[in-house]
Amino acid sequence: MPQTSVLTITDLCTEFETDNGQVRVLDGVTFHVPKGKTIGLVGESGCGKSVTAMSIMGLLPKPFGQVVSGSIEYTHQDKVDDLATLPAEKMYQMRGNAISMIFQDPMTALNPVHTIGKQLMEVYQLHQSKFSKKQRYQLSLEMLEKVGIPSPKQRMLEFPHQLSGGMRQRVMIAIALACKPDVLICDEPTTALDVTVQAQILDLMKSLQQETGMSIIFITHDLGVVAEICDQVVVMYAGKVVEQADVFELFDYPSHPYTQGLLASMPNSQSIPKAMLPTIEGSVPNLNDMPVGCRFSSRCPYQQEKCLQRTPVLEMKNAEHQISCHFWPDLPIKGSRQESVL
Ligand SMILES: Nc1ncnc2c1ncn2[C@@H]1O[C@H](COP(=O)(O)OP(=O)(O)OP(=O)(O)O)[C@@H](O)[C@H]1O
Ligand SMILES: [Mg+2]
Repeated sequence: MPQTSVLTITDLCTEFETDNGQVRVLDGVTFHVPKGKTIGLVGESGCGKSVTAMSIMGLLPKPFGQVVSGSIEYTHQDKVDDLATLPAEKMYQMRGNAISMIFQDPMTALNPVHTIGKQLMEVYQLHQSKFSKKQRYQLSLEMLEKVGIPSPKQRMLEFPHQLSGGMRQRVMIAIALACKPDVLICDEPTTALDVTVQAQILDLMKSLQQETGMSIIFITHDLGVVAEICDQVVVMYAGKVVEQADVFELFDYPSHPYTQGLLASMPNSQSIPKAMLPTIEGSVPNLNDMPVGCRFSSRCPYQQEKCLQRTPVLEMKNAEHQISCHFWPDLPIKGSRQESVL
């Protein structure tokens, strides 16, 4: 049965104006987010994960960054809006309400001059105006408790700078969840937190997802977290999607050489403690000097002439698995879970 998509991103191209001229950071990004599901967005640093999130949120730094083509269709109540072309004031209404984001850096999202309590209660006022001030206070307190903040009554009275980085991150998560959005975008939300709190927050997100049916885009470097919480995975490399699949399918049949490399570099139960894990040699190509053909070609163990000449397109293995490689389906499946990667 086809899944209902809440977000459908098609051929998204985003560019930045830099000192070295115009650079294309996202080049034809395509994927969809099914309702009520969690999509993991993975790839090495600089691949364009945060820029994808910022493009969806309409938060690219103006005037230097902009979506130059493609669409971001948001389906809600049988209506479809293209967020790529939505007027700024409409986009402002969408943010926080329909689509909410937890940022990599919590200081960018919290207001330094307002107390935590004021900021959280304001969210309830905006989104659930039926509650009295006393109820809003109580809900805020409960939400701080849910994200694992000790002495929440005292924290309500404090300002962001009085909190540690980890605490600020939890406050931001509380604010994003209080909005009960349709889509929650999480950009590395738990990396700064210790493992126990991270597990607690992931559990909280999952239970809220079950309660409200929200969809989540979860950006992370941690494939262990992806395996645990995501339903589907989108693998990005140098501004493009190179593979996307159902999470079990991806871990069982990683088909793009880049995905295989990422999985091979992940520790597993059979890794020898302190032993070096394999890494993908080389680095992501420079935005000003992108290879003509496949962007992964310079690091790919299977590189051949045609990889340098033509850009591969995303091909469907099945409805839930697409790969962008000239040699698919002829490559061996390496680094899969069947080889005990997990
Ligand atoms: N404001 C900007 N101006 C110019 N280039 C930018 C800007 N913001 C991001 N970029 C470039 O866009 C590319 C993608 O960056 P992005 O932040 O999306 O990567 P990422 O996948 O989120 O990496 P990380 O895992 O480190 O967070 C990088 O090459 C980055 O240098
Ligand atoms: Mg990022």
